[in-house]
Amino acid sequence: MAFAKYIKNKQNNMKVTVVGAGNVGATCADVLAHREIANEIVLLDIKEGFAEGKALDIWETSPINLYDSRTVGSTNDYSKTAGSDVVVITSGLPRKPGMSRDDLIATNAGIVKQVTENVVKHSPDAKIICVSNPLDVMTYCAYLTAQIDPSRVFGMAGVLDTARYRSFLALELNVSPKDIQAVLMGGHGDTMVPLPRYTTVGGIPVTELIAEDKLNEIIERTKFGGGEIVKLLGTSAWYAPGAAAAQMVEAIVRDQKRVFPVCAWLQGEYGMNDIYLGVPVILGKNGIERIIELDLNDDEKALLEESATAVRNVMSVLDNMNAQEA
Ligand code: NAI
Ligand code: 2OP
Repeated sequence: MAFAKYIKNKQNNMKVTVVGAGNVGATCADVLAHREIANEIVLLDIKEGFAEGKALDIWETSPINLYDSRTVGSTNDYSKTAGSDVVVITSGLPRKPGMSRDDLIATNAGIVKQVTENVVKHSPDAKIICVSNPLDVMTYCAYLTAQIDPSRVFGMAGVLDTARYRSFLALELNVSPKDIQAVLMGGHGDTMVPLPRYTTVGGIPVTELIAEDKLNEIIERTKFGGGEIVKLLGTSAWYAPGAAAAQMVEAIVRDQKRVFPVCAWLQGEYGMNDIYLGVPVILGKNGIERIIELDLNDDEKALLEESATAVRNVMSVLDNMNAQEA
């Protein structure tokens, strides 16, 4: 059995780069290695020796956790990332208490732009998953820079936000989080749109199992789930974000055709154009293989529009910054 697993992994022959070896990046690399999602995982950071140290520490868990995926560190040397199948961008400042995700735009846009240029130069065929905040707009920034098909540039937020929602529901209902399925749409911010109509517990509509006011409390907690952790830790979360990004990588490298909420470039879907927003998609070896269009009711549409407006406001900050540079 162990040998069969070893051979399967060897045949996988996938290379994944994680840019940014901080809290989220290192956690993502650890999950990718531990779960043998790729043969080679390159961790890159701008801080001298930092990625090498994290990659070595992760590799030293291999005899304990029983895996053979290789983790390699690099201080800003993108030649080591060459030919990556998937690149996860986590480089950038995290939130501190009192900051919104949008406060990070000026610094993180510069970082995401520089990183994406290098990523595309060395791995022109890679699928790019952006994680840096403000998420929807940094994904847009990566897309503008990469100049590749948007099916290959997308953002991680919905997998995390849905996981938070599902984990809170599991606690409230005292059931396994494995049995909770949910869809959450919109931007990665306080206007995100959890959809109770598309939330089930073992196939049972959640509304049959929980009082409306309790469900609304959980929805509110989910919307501010990132801030809840920032208040507790003084910086933003990393275990769930790192695992969420790794789950998206897995869907791609194993061509799983998973249905996930992903920050995707909309071209007419949901009546919207030229915007990155969280929507359900099918994720497989080609990246976003299809955007699923749900038949939203008027209330849900209004919430999605509100969320899109919030994202567009921050997109225009980036557009203005780019216009001033040009
Ligand atoms: P962190 O500060 O622990 O790590 C960021 C790393 O990026 C640092 O090690 C830093 O040296 C590196 N870095 C900075 N500039 C770089 C460059 N030009 N090239 C390569 N590396 C560079 O931060 P953390 O907690 O890992 O968060 C990373 C980003 O992810 C933040 O922007 C945060 O807001 C975002 N985030 C997004 C989530 C989401 O759901 N999309 C969830 C959690 C965090
Ligand atoms: C989070 O949701 C801050 O985006 C980060 O944890």
